[in-house]
Amino acid sequence: MDHISRLLSPSSGVGTAGAVVGALALAVVIPWLAHAVYQWYRLSHIPGPFWAAFSKWWMVRESLKGRQPTAIKEVTDKYGSLARIGPNELVTDDPEVLRRMMAVRSAYTRGPWYDAMRFDPTRDNLFSMRDEAAHTKLRAKMAAGYSGKENESMETQIETQIGNLVRLIENKYLSTASEFRPMDLAQKGQYFTLDVISDLAFGRPFGYLEQDDDVFDYIKITSSFIPVMLILANVPSLAKLLQSPLMRGAMPKESDKLGFGAFIGVAKKVVAERFQAHAASQPDMLGSFIRHGLTQEEASGEALLQVVAGSDTSASTIRLVMLYLLSNPSAYNRLQNEIDAGVAAGRISSPIRDSEARELPYLQAVIKEGLRIMPPAAGAFFKTVPPGGDVIAGKFIPAGTQIGSSPFGIHHSKKIFGEDAEMYRPERWLEADGDKLAQMTATVDLVFHYGKYQCLGKTVALMEFNKIFVELLRRFDFTVVNAEKPVKIDNAGIWIIEDFWVRIIQREHPV
Ligand code: HEM
Repeated sequence: MDHISRLLSPSSGVGTAGAVVGALALAVVIPWLAHAVYQWYRLSHIPGPFWAAFSKWWMVRESLKGRQPTAIKEVTDKYGSLARIGPNELVTDDPEVLRRMMAVRSAYTRGPWYDAMRFDPTRDNLFSMRDEAAHTKLRAKMAAGYSGKENESMETQIETQIGNLVRLIENKYLSTASEFRPMDLAQKGQYFTLDVISDLAFGRPFGYLEQDDDVFDYIKITSSFIPVMLILANVPSLAKLLQSPLMRGAMPKESDKLGFGAFIGVAKKVVAERFQAHAASQPDMLGSFIRHGLTQEEASGEALLQVVAGSDTSASTIRLVMLYLLSNPSAYNRLQNEIDAGVAAGRISSPIRDSEARELPYLQAVIKEGLRIMPPAAGAFFKTVPPGGDVIAGKFIPAGTQIGSSPFGIHHSKKIFGEDAEMYRPERWLEADGDKLAQMTATVDLVFHYGKYQCLGKTVALMEFNKIFVELLRRFDFTVVNAEKPVKIDNAGIWIIEDFWVRIIQREHPV
């Protein structure tokens, strides 16, 4: 008692300061410790790396190293199908569990991970939206436009951009015995997907292929911005802080001349023009959205999402499929033979129709294998366990827990895809049949996720893939320039793929 009163006495200055610091430390440290122990205990029945249970550092560290999907697979391989990677974060590699979580009537909701997915800090987009009712309502207004059913022009718009890519190659990047004109396929792949999506979203392409340039520096800026966004998704409170009015100056705004901000500005302008010009009657994506009740404000916000969601993922697939084909001459030749035979038999038009491509078994195997080996959206996409909790593999998971997916765990599963699941081998899709093939197909479909959260751009993406490889390989032959390191590749939730230099020659007898 005496000791305490001495500390509190105004005459003992140093003692008082020490007491205050001590009291503060206790006030902060004890609740923090109690919270950490409580957090740890809550999910202590789920195995995982020990320290990951106490802070998000494990998640952030693996993201910063560019290897989160690989690290998550190592965890699910080591600790089991449901494993712990954060104080409140679990991951699963079980396709059944993921399908149940994302089913249309599932009570699971999107977790705070999605808060970081606001491209425009002032508003949610369909992808960042966590309010289930609002998400369902907005999704319903857009589903028909994305599906291609109401926008007959989708297929020809994609074909036009493939034509532009072919022309660009013919004009600038054909090598001969006497001329070497290497092309960065990583860059041109994204020019192609950006022109497709801007044409679909805004009614006119931004002209990446025509100008052969990174218009608005979009690729340069997004390739640094999106990884930051995805790393921040591990710490949603930090993402929220950055989006707060206080920090907004540092975020993209429509007055910017370049990058996301410039896109926000262009989206607003073009959508405003379309709203004045009886857009509802147009047989394109925006026309369909408007007919289903999308407001002008919603349409401009969503246009930006279309560009972000629709360009990088598809570009990654194009780059990776080409990379795996070029590293695998038997697959490359087999696909080219299938294309040549199809053309000779009159089963492939010029350009190939989507319906024709779906009948080419090896092409389909090449695409599925490309999506499987490097799932283009390789983030964890955490969902929240609903009130009342859930039971997974006999273990109770309390409400509010975040469960994400282990994309490599799912898509490289030896149980589902065979002992050689880690390698690119399209033949596996032709060898499997019956239940085995059905299970493999349903699993690879999960690259687009499922049910109420399934990617709305799946039809667009598959249509791009169904056409582009045929149109390139029927005309040209490709070789990697640098066989030792054909491409720079890193993962930051999305794949950062750069410097994929190829030598292209005109085929002797293009079909
Ligand atoms: C290989 C290509 C693609 C893959 C693998 C892919 C994958 C995904 C995934 C995993 C999600 C998130 C689902 C979730 O929240 O759990 C998603 C959402 C979305 N994607 Fe894609 N995507 C691709 C291409 C595209 C394209 C080309 C577009 C646009 C034309 C697009 C538009 C969207 C939209 C709008 C959403 C939000 C859906 C919603 O919140 O309801 N995606 N995508």
